[in-house]
Amino acid sequence: MKIPPKIEIANIPTPIHAIFYEGFEILIKRDDYTGIEWSGNKIRKLEYIIYDALSKKANVLITCGGVQSNHARATAAIGARFGLKTILYLRGKEPKSYKGNLALDKLFDAEINFISAEEYENIHEIAEKKNNELKKKGFKAVFIPEGASSPLGIWGYIECAKELSAQLRNVKNKPNHIVTAVGSGGTLAGLLVGTKLFNLKSKLIGFNVLKTSDDFEKIVFNLATQCIKKYKLNVKISTKDFEIIDGYSTEGYENISQEKLEFLTFVSQDYGIILDPTYTGKAFYGMIDHFIYHENEFNGLLFIHTGGIFGVFDKIQKYLKAIE
Ligand SMILES: Cc1ncc(COP(=O)(O)O)c(C=O)c1O
Repeated sequence: MKIPPKIEIANIPTPIHAIFYEGFEILIKRDDYTGIEWSGNKIRKLEYIIYDALSKKANVLITCGGVQSNHARATAAIGARFGLKTILYLRGKEPKSYKGNLALDKLFDAEINFISAEEYENIHEIAEKKNNELKKKGFKAVFIPEGASSPLGIWGYIECAKELSAQLRNVKNKPNHIVTAVGSGGTLAGLLVGTKLFNLKSKLIGFNVLKTSDDFEKIVFNLATQCIKKYKLNVKISTKDFEIIDGYSTEGYENISQEKLEFLTFVSQDYGIILDPTYTGKAFYGMIDHFIYHENEFNGLLFIHTGGIFGVFDKIQKYLKAIE
């Protein structure tokens, strides 16, 4: 197996911490510790993508996401670190004041373009047009898809599965479920390939924060299949190897219900762990609700904390109100 080369900038391997919730042990893989400016799950994928961009002599990165995109912020940070200009297309209106990830995008000197949801549907054309303009001016740009979720980017989570496999080798009660938030599908797709390659038996569970579970079943499976084909990996995957659980983001991608916010502040107060309002908060809440309160057929849970702390500062007053 030929593993693609990458830059090495993430703080990995990340530790696994155990907490106890209502008597159940939950392991938490701290991928929120992969860095500070480039913290969270995106940097694992960007390590591969940025190596590729640098080897193509690129000097501009173009990418996209929501206004509070963690991926956009991590890309802008890494762009600044390697001397590449970052151009962002963010879905939504320009807010009156810049907070959280968006404020950091600005600090990392990214060019920020706000586009409507309809325009976002055609992001590939928009990026292509920009790329052509840049080419005429002598720049070399690469487009990084949403969430860095490409067949190359998902190597970040193939590698994470390898890391997990080594870390769990001496653990007596291996978790039979590995849980993550799903936003563009790359984290889960990488884990799908990686758990097969490195012989991890745990079933993968994703909580989608947008679209539907059916949509993500296809997206994750296709992405994993493309990676297997492109890199000629000797693994067989099936849609039975993972499950996407819907219904924990009914308030909408950019919103969070009061009940969930109260739960997240309980987690911060009782465990010292910050969960973000868009991804990890909904997935962690979903995991507790689904497994601990509704389904008792599990022997152990491992939650991948995929980061997102800066998103908290976009909604910090709501968090503070939730503890009152
Ligand atoms: C903090 C955080 N967690 C989880 C996810 C979901 O990961 P993926 O896009 O690989 O599905 C994202 C991004 O989408 C994220 O920013």
